[in-house]
Amino acid sequence: MKFQINTKTKIVAAISLATAVVVAMGSCTASQKIEAKSGAQLWAENCQRCHNTPSPSTFSPEQWETIGMHMQSRALLTDKERDKIVDFLKQ
Ligand code: HEC
Repeated sequence: MKFQINTKTKIVAAISLATAVVVAMGSCTASQKIEAKSGAQLWAENCQRCHNTPSPSTFSPEQWETIGMHMQSRALLTDKERDKIVDFLKQ
């Protein structure tokens, strides 16, 4: 009887640990995917939805800063994504 309870407890513990590891790994790969994307990639993926993407030379670095802030709310970008896109456009 005692042995059975112990085994059950171990199985439950093993399952919860496995679930926790899978969840942790899942969220990790998701954030790594965004990390790995370049500014150029994010620009192409996010800005073309609504209008043609203006080329980096269309505006000055200062103008891109302002545009980045306006378009961040339109494109629903994170701060990190916006920074990457603006850095790319300023080059
Ligand atoms: C949800 C739609 C939407 C998304 C996504 C979007 N834009 Fe826009 N964008 C607009 C609209 C609408 C305008 C024109 C009105 C305005 O300026 O507020 C505009 C205007 C602009 C202009 C000004 C164009 C000009 O000739 O003056 C630039 C530059 C621009 N967007 C860049 C971007 C960049 C870069 C991204 C990606 C980070 C982006 N947009 C994402 C809707 C969007």
